Amino acid sequence: MNSNSLVSINDISRDEILDLIERARFFEEHPNHKILDGKVVATLFFEPSTRTRLSFETAVNRLGGRVIGFSDASTSSSSKGESLKDTIMMVSNYVDLIVMRHYLEGAARYATEVTDTPVINAGDGANQHPSQTMLDLYSISKTQGTLNDLTITMVGDLKYGRTVHSLLMAMQYFNPTFHFVACPELQMPKEYKEFCDLHGIKYYEHTEFSPEVIAASDILYMTRVQRERFSDLMEYEKVKNLYTLRNSMLDVAKDNLRVLHPLPRVNEIDRDVDDNPKAYYFEQARNGLFARQAIICKALGIDVLNLKGDE
Ligand code: CP
Repeated sequence: MNSNSLVSINDISRDEILDLIERARFFEEHPNHKILDGKVVATLFFEPSTRTRLSFETAVNRLGGRVIGFSDASTSSSSKGESLKDTIMMVSNYVDLIVMRHYLEGAARYATEVTDTPVINAGDGANQHPSQTMLDLYSISKTQGTLNDLTITMVGDLKYGRTVHSLLMAMQYFNPTFHFVACPELQMPKEYKEFCDLHGIKYYEHTEFSPEVIAASDILYMTRVQRERFSDLMEYEKVKNLYTLRNSMLDVAKDNLRVLHPLPRVNEIDRDVDDNPKAYYFEQARNGLFARQAIICKALGIDVLNLKGDE
């Protein structure tokens, strides 16, 4: 495995997280350094994406590199039965870095075992989404001025939501308090609650999305109930509309509260929240470009912090 791969947020240390945030900040100020000249990056998306794929590809383009890949696996030879192992080995012949999203948990880890090319996990099933976590941390740091001692409320699909799983793990270094708001069918899995226990992280579980929980929060992290993860669509129909954030619900919120959502949303945030200054999800997605520029450079072993003025 190439040690520059990013498979799980748990693979990187507190210092590495803070270093990536510093680099993301650098790229927000200097987004157009041509430091990937001659580098080719593959984006292999076996599941749909808008933000992750397009922001990774924009990141490479703005840094002067080239992108190959597919956004629809049915156009690749995996539709003819080619294995993931063979696909990764082939693509490794052509590129310097692989960014991959796959519907199977563990697919990115497996990819790192069959190639020496660095791999960035762009989401593997319900497991992990570490680049999303880096843009979430960057967003939290920008809006709160710190990552330390924050109260973060996660709402919605906490069972299948890979973004909340990754974020929970990353916050282990920053003394968070979590509120988990979910129906019984979509509660935070036991392994993540055990992770909290192991690391001394405080958490409280709720089925009601109450004013008291909103009033206590610094970050309100809304999530979509993911239709694509349900084998029984009747189960999805039962739980899909249980939690919706409406603008009036934010009247009790602290001034510093910001609403985050990895997007796409369906109807878990009312459109009338969009104009509230506490709504931060579109800026959050924009931060993804800078966080991913930082991640790409780290994976390729490129030090960026001495480049100021070279645009
Ligand atoms: N947040 C996120 O992963 O969005 P996409 O599915 O559009 O990439």
